[in-house]
Amino acid sequence: MIDFRSDTITKPTQEMLDAMMNASVGDDVFMEDPSVNALEDKVAKMFGQESAIFCPSGTMCNQIAIKVHTHPGDEVICGDLAHVYHYEGGGMAMNSGVTAKLLKGDRGRFTANDIQSVINPDDVHKPHTSLVCVEDTSNKGGGAIWSHNNLKAIGELCQKSGMKYHLDGARAFNALIESGVAPEEYGKYFDSISICLSKGLGAPVGSVLIGDVSFIHQARRVRKVFGGGMRQAGFLAAAGIYALDNHVDRLKIDHQRAKQAGALLESLPYVERVLGVETNIVIYYLKEGHSVQAHIENMKNKNVLVIGMGGQAVRIVYHLDVTDSQHNNYMDILKKEF
Ligand SMILES: Cc1ncc(COP(=O)(O)O)c(C=O)c1O
Repeated sequence: MIDFRSDTITKPTQEMLDAMMNASVGDDVFMEDPSVNALEDKVAKMFGQESAIFCPSGTMCNQIAIKVHTHPGDEVICGDLAHVYHYEGGGMAMNSGVTAKLLKGDRGRFTANDIQSVINPDDVHKPHTSLVCVEDTSNKGGGAIWSHNNLKAIGELCQKSGMKYHLDGARAFNALIESGVAPEEYGKYFDSISICLSKGLGAPVGSVLIGDVSFIHQARRVRKVFGGGMRQAGFLAAAGIYALDNHVDRLKIDHQRAKQAGALLESLPYVERVLGVETNIVIYYLKEGHSVQAHIENMKNKNVLVIGMGGQAVRIVYHLDVTDSQHNNYMDILKKEF
């Protein structure tokens, strides 16, 4: 089966498992797990930031960041396709008591100008606008990358307006590798960054939240409250270290393959359009009258798993566990769909 449903489905390689089994561990709630400490140091340095904290999931990193950066009653600005809004179970309302102002952007991306017009004035009737969240790459936006200048301009506006700035970087390495921007650049603008080890990088579990010492100190408390204080988590951290050392550069392969798939999908008679492929995610829209469910079944019968994204949209995601021969098979399958 060629499983394109998500880049979260990868299983650890033998080398990663070896690294996990050889990890030195301790109690991470006591901050005594050498592997977790090494991962946190490594990631903080990578992004030119002071500190970092290992968490069980990207959702928890985002939710901790929102909790630390806001007060109940505040408003958070994010894109209309944002994971923090659509796919975290209403967590920002439940955990932090905040509301969201959704910006309609280009595939999940918006600009400093878009933000400027929705920052609430200091008026008792209005929620206090305290945080901007961006998602790079944008998942629901089909893996779209934010331009570096745009991210920088938003950072400057946040600083000027007293708002905090959080990056949901579940797929930040896809963006960084593709655009050639150094991680330290992101560290300069954002007050907090969440990166996921368990997506394109192929670790079984884990995300890291990055920020300055004071932010991470508060984040550590919130992580405990959310039930995310793990004990001998070094086995998982070792997988993350292995992933960062060995699986970042290869993301380019996923991007190249996704672009090839996108080009073929675009010419299929039942495909209306394909969102421009920038990284490892391809979102394509079936023409009206073509059932997404039937398409998913048709693909499944050909040993290909894809998922629907609402309406006529279908998504495929390239990742570490899609082999060369699976990619070639998929290309052949698509060619027969003409
Ligand atoms: C953009 C984005 N942010 C956050 C997450 C949440 O990550 P997790 O599944 O580890 O909670 C995901 C998961 O797919 C995602 O795509």
